[in-house]
Amino acid sequence: MYRHSMDNPEEFWAEEARKLHWDKTWDKVLDWQPPYARWFTGGRLNASVQCVDRHVKTWRKSKVAIYWEGENGETRVLSYSTLYRDVNRFASALQKLGIKKGDKVALYMPMIPELPTFMLACARIGAIHTVIFSGFSAQAVCDRVQDTGARLIITADGGYRRGKIIPLKEIVDQAASSCPTLEKIIVVKRTGQKIPWNEGRDVWLSSLMDDNAEYYVKPESVESTHPLYILYTSGTTGKPKGIVHGTGGYLVFNHSVYQWVFDIKEESVFWCTADVGWVTGHSAIVYAPLSHGAAIVLYEGAPDYPAIDRWWDIIEKYGVNILYTSPTAIRMFMRHGKEWPEKHDLSSLELLGSVGEPINPEAWQWYYRNIGRERCPIVDTWWQTETGGFMISPTPGIEAMPLKPGSATHPLPGIDASVVDTDGKELPPGQKGYLIIRKPWPGMLLDIYGNPQRYQEAFWSRFPGSFYTGDFAMRDEDGYFWLLGRADEVLKIAGHRIGTAELESATISQPAVAEVAVVSRPDEIKGDAIVLFVTLKKGQQPSDALKKEITQHLRNTVGSIASPDEIYFVETMPKTRSGKIMRRVLKAVASGQTLGDLTTLEDEASVEEAKRAFEDLKKTSEKNKQA
Ligand code: PRX
Repeated sequence: MYRHSMDNPEEFWAEEARKLHWDKTWDKVLDWQPPYARWFTGGRLNASVQCVDRHVKTWRKSKVAIYWEGENGETRVLSYSTLYRDVNRFASALQKLGIKKGDKVALYMPMIPELPTFMLACARIGAIHTVIFSGFSAQAVCDRVQDTGARLIITADGGYRRGKIIPLKEIVDQAASSCPTLEKIIVVKRTGQKIPWNEGRDVWLSSLMDDNAEYYVKPESVESTHPLYILYTSGTTGKPKGIVHGTGGYLVFNHSVYQWVFDIKEESVFWCTADVGWVTGHSAIVYAPLSHGAAIVLYEGAPDYPAIDRWWDIIEKYGVNILYTSPTAIRMFMRHGKEWPEKHDLSSLELLGSVGEPINPEAWQWYYRNIGRERCPIVDTWWQTETGGFMISPTPGIEAMPLKPGSATHPLPGIDASVVDTDGKELPPGQKGYLIIRKPWPGMLLDIYGNPQRYQEAFWSRFPGSFYTGDFAMRDEDGYFWLLGRADEVLKIAGHRIGTAELESATISQPAVAEVAVVSRPDEIKGDAIVLFVTLKKGQQPSDALKKEITQHLRNTVGSIASPDEIYFVETMPKTRSGKIMRRVLKAVASGQTLGDLTTLEDEASVEEAKRAFEDLKKTSEKNKQA
C-alpha cells in the first residue's frame, strides 16, 4: 500500500475517498499549487452526513453513538438516531439565529454530548466551528472569537471538574464585553445553577426548539475545500494561529487512518480521553469514529475524580475496546501504582493508543503490562493540529513491522516523511534532525485563518517545497522514526501545546514585570514544565506574593495550563551583545544542568559570555531558592 501511495498518490487517495458518501464526485483529486494543496476539487459532500445520516439509513440507527459519563456520575446514551434527531434540532436552532454557510460559530463548552452535536450541526449547514478549550480564560476566548469574527458563541451554564463547577457562562460574559462581533450566546443547561443573563443577547438552547416537534434540516452540500473548522494552536509568536481544515480531504484522511491504525469498526467502543477542545478531540472523538459508525465514550471530568481508578471503572462499565490517551496520563497513573487498574476487568480492551508527546519506554511498558495486560498492541501516533490526522504510527497486525517501545515506527501510506539537517539534506540513520513532510496529504491544513503570510513562513519557508513540522526526529537502522520533541520555542505541557512567546507576551502585561523569558525544563510527569525568568520594574521587590500575582495573571490571561512551575527573579537578563536573550543559558539553569557543548551556541553568545552569564544566574537562582 505504501509503495502504491508513493508511486501513484492520486489514484491511491481516490480509492480511499470512494469509501465516503459524495453528493458529487470530484473533478480532480489534487490541485497542488505550493504551498496550497486542495483535495478532491469539484467534489461536494457534507460532514454530518458522513457521521450521522449514512448510519441512520442502516441497522446502525439503533446502535450506540455516544456513551456519555458525567463527572458527577450521571450518564446518557445516545443512539445514532438520537444523534441524528439532535443534530437536526440544533442545526435548526442555528438557522433560527440566522447562521448560514460560511459563518463562524464559537463553542466554549464542557465535555457533554451537546458539544459534538453542535459541531455536527454547524457542519450540517456549512457553518465553520471554532471550538475553544474550556480551560482557557476569558481573554483567550475573546482573542479567538475576535480573530474569527464569530457572531455566535455556544456555552453552558457550567461544567463539572473535580467536583467544582467551572462558571463557563460568566467567563463568556467577560469575553463578550470586548468582542464587538458577538451578537448571540446560546446557553446549554448543564448544572442548573443561577447565572447572569443578558436579555436580548443570551438564549437558552431549549427555547430555540419545541420538544414535541420533529426537525429536518437539509444538509448543505459543500465544496470539498469548504472549511470545516478553525482550531487555534500555539506557534512561535505571541499570538495563536487559527488552523483551517477543509471538509473532503480532512474526512477522507481521517476515515482511512483510523481504519489502518485503530482497526476501528462499527462495533468498536472507542474512547479518546482528550478534550474536544484540542485537535485530538476533533478527529478522535468526533469526525473519525463517528464516520465509521463506532460508539464513542465521552467523559466530562477529571481522570482521578472521585478516585484514581475512575478511568478503569469507565472502561469496565462500557466495555471499551480501544483506549487512546497521552503519555502524561500514563505517567500520572504509573505513579499511583498498578493496584488501581488491577481492581478492574479490562479484558474488553484490544488496542491502546498514545498521542501528544513522546512516550518514554518505561511508561510504554507500564501501559502495555498493566492496562493492555500484555495482549494489546500500543499505537504511538505522531501527528499535529496542522496535519489533521495520524502521519507516523504503527499499523498493528503487520508482522514485518514489530513495535518498538518509544518509537512511532513508520510513516503511514501517503506520508512522505524525512529527517534532514539545517540545509535540508536527508540524514543517515542515527542522526537527529528536523522532521519534514515532502508531499501534501489530504488532512493537511488549508491555511492559517486570515494570515496566509504566516502560513507560508511557519511551514514552507524553512525547507522550501516541504512542510516543516517543527519537530526533531531520528531514524534508526531499521528505518523506524523516533520523535524527539519540538525544535522550536513551543512547549508541551501534559501534551498541550503552548508557545513561550505567548507566555512571555501574557507575563509582560503584568504591571510589575519589566522583562521576561520563558523556558521549559523537563518534568517527570508533564513532559515540559514552565519556568519564568523575570526582571522587575524599578521600585518593585521580589516576593512570594508577587510570584502568586504573576501566576494568577497568567491563569487569567491564558488559562490554567499557563501556570508557571517556577519563577526566578533576576536583576538582569543574560543577553548577547546583539541583545538576544541567551535561552540555552536559561534552560541549563532551569533544569539544573551544565551548559553542555558550547561550540554550537544557538543564541550567538561567545563561550565566555555564556559561561559568565550561566555562573551569575546560577548564583541568583540558588539565592532565590534559599529565600
Ligand atoms: O511535538 C509533537 C507532539 O505534539 C506536537 C503537536 O501538538 P498538537 O498540534 O497540539 O497536537 C497534538 C495531538 C496530535 C507535535 O509537533 N506529538 C504529538 N504526537 C506525538 C508527539 N511527539 C511524539 N510522539 C507522538 N506520538
